[in-house]
Amino acid sequence: MSLSPSAHPHGVKTVIVPAAGLGTRFLPATKTVPKELLPVVDTPGIELIAEEANALGASRLALIVAPNKQEVLRHFEHFPDLVETLSERGKTDQVEKVQRAGKLMTPVAVEQEKPLGLGHAVGLAESVLDDDEDVVAVMLPDDLVLPMGVLEKMAAVRAQLGGSVLCAVDVPREDVFNYGVFDIKDIPADCGLDSEDVKRVVGMVEKPDPEDAPSTFVATGRYLLDRGIFDALRRTQPGKGGEIQLTDAIETMIQEGHKVHIVVHRGKRHDLGNPVGYIPACVDFGLSHPQYGPALRRAITEILAEHEAAETSAGE
Ligand code: UTP
Repeated sequence: MSLSPSAHPHGVKTVIVPAAGLGTRFLPATKTVPKELLPVVDTPGIELIAEEANALGASRLALIVAPNKQEVLRHFEHFPDLVETLSERGKTDQVEKVQRAGKLMTPVAVEQEKPLGLGHAVGLAESVLDDDEDVVAVMLPDDLVLPMGVLEKMAAVRAQLGGSVLCAVDVPREDVFNYGVFDIKDIPADCGLDSEDVKRVVGMVEKPDPEDAPSTFVATGRYLLDRGIFDALRRTQPGKGGEIQLTDAIETMIQEGHKVHIVVHRGKRHDLGNPVGYIPACVDFGLSHPQYGPALRRAITEILAEHEAAETSAGE
């Protein structure tokens, strides 16, 4: 399917969503349930990503899945029997919920046979691109970047400065060892962009020790990558953890003179990839939920009071 670039308001036709990782931080749940299907209140992370891709105006969701994670794709199917049963029972709200994912995006499956790394997973998506695509978006389903719309900002920076644009958040220095960290410099003051939130990237290092980190700006799961990334990935050897790292391929591009900028996201971010990020995301979405919010607030207040009382009596 070749769609004209004008059909894409931000110039992005394809969003690559790598979802073939092992999800070890969610074992034992991820023995049978892909982490991308774990619900944030009632909606799986993968559907929230599809919503973001839809809002960006992309027309293709290249979903990278492992052979044993086909259920992630199934989430976008139509479920006619379930829809019929719910319709017969007059449950129109639930019908809408069942149909929503499929209406947002129709994924194209790309199989990653072995979890050889995020870079390897992204590289596989080249096979589904059209010849006229000079840029792709990558959205990691582990990361919720809120409010939605950061890729639109990144596309505006690419339109002005060219090259690739990545999303960054500013984290405490002691946390940088978990991330890809940017070495940055300021953009020219007269380029018409906000120099607080847009920086030129001169290097990138994966999971450094805090004392070696070139900055506290770290990669979060949104990338707008020039098509040249696929060539760089083909030349990338396994790095940290024996995996082919996307960070290493981006670093190659930078060293070869490719322009890379970051847009610093100052809003909220939830890391759904581990319990300590996933649970707060559920609480955050739950508290904002019109139906569940008030009861959840009471429950959390009660639980906190119980824990505080237990801690006080243990300390006495
Ligand atoms: P992570 O390293 O955070 O996810 O990869 P993981 O490997 O699934 O999780 P843990 O560390 O074992 O708990 C970031 C993203 O890249 C995808 C993952 O699915 C996740 O969305 N990924 C990672 C792949 O698609 N393939 C890979 O080989 C590795």
